[in-house]
Amino acid sequence: MGSGRIVGKTALVTGGASGIGAAIAAELGCEGASVFVTDLNEAAGTAVAADLTGGRFLRHDVTNEEDWREVIAAVEGSHDGLDILVNNAGVMPALKTIEETDYDEWRRVMAVNMDGVFLGVKHGIGAMKARGGAIVNISSIMGLVGEAVVGAYSASKGGVRLFTKSAAVECANLGYPIRINSVHPGYIDGGMFGAMADTFGVEGLRERFAGKTPMRRLGKPEEIAKGVLFLVSDDPSFSTGSELVLDGGYTAR
Ligand SMILES: NC(=O)c1ccc[n+]([C@@H]2O[C@H](COP(=O)([O-])OP(=O)(O)OC[C@H]3O[C@@H](n4cnc5c(N)ncnc54)[C@H](O)[C@@H]3O)[C@@H](O)[C@H]2O)c1
Repeated sequence: MGSGRIVGKTALVTGGASGIGAAIAAELGCEGASVFVTDLNEAAGTAVAADLTGGRFLRHDVTNEEDWREVIAAVEGSHDGLDILVNNAGVMPALKTIEETDYDEWRRVMAVNMDGVFLGVKHGIGAMKARGGAIVNISSIMGLVGEAVVGAYSASKGGVRLFTKSAAVECANLGYPIRINSVHPGYIDGGMFGAMADTFGVEGLRERFAGKTPMRRLGKPEEIAKGVLFLVSDDPSFSTGSELVLDGGYTAR
């Protein structure tokens, strides 16, 4: 059992069916929150929610505004309201140069990684502005530093970083008691990076990226979940518009 820092809170985690999102849902559930796990992947999402006390799965496409309305209405219909929103759903396209990248692929990455976060923050603010709450947007080290062959992904994650700051300042200016922060994971052994490593040469890829990381290892989804827990708890009560980098020192060089 956890420390119960968020007992009685209601949380929504998008993309919670696998990887980092599943670890965040488990961490928030363990700490006492009622967690709504949402995703396109119904089978995996249902399984994640079933492992949580009071967990519930909702099918949800983060690029669809009507889905957002329905999900928020479902949360408000069965609980007092939404306290915690983690915009975690994301996609990583195949590694390609900018010249090789189709415009449709660029748009798909922007739709999930950027538009999905915009819609989440928009509807999250609506749900939280009277009662207060905390929003965490999952960006990446790719939203902080440039890397080749991930142009669309980097642009989307850089967008999430600055959109988070803009939304945080706006909420503070409007007097809404909502804190909004971004989290920037490094290379994590799980989720989309784990899937890529398994597809393209397994240990070689893991070792290469661990070698690029000063701590000489990949991170674990649970290590990102602990950072998210900190941001959505009441402990960092003066923190909004900030970025929590959890990358084994990757961006410190
Ligand atoms: N794994 C890493 O190394 C790493 C590093 C930095 C940042 N991130 C970020 O962490 C987040 C989680 O990634 P992960 O590694 O766990 O990957 P993942 O692929 O395991 O999880 C992403 C989840 O998002 C869901 N999803 C995709 N499109 C969706 C949509 N339109 N609507 C709803 N759900 C959708 C997928 O079904 C999946 O369950 C992403 O935002 C990713 O960019 C991951």
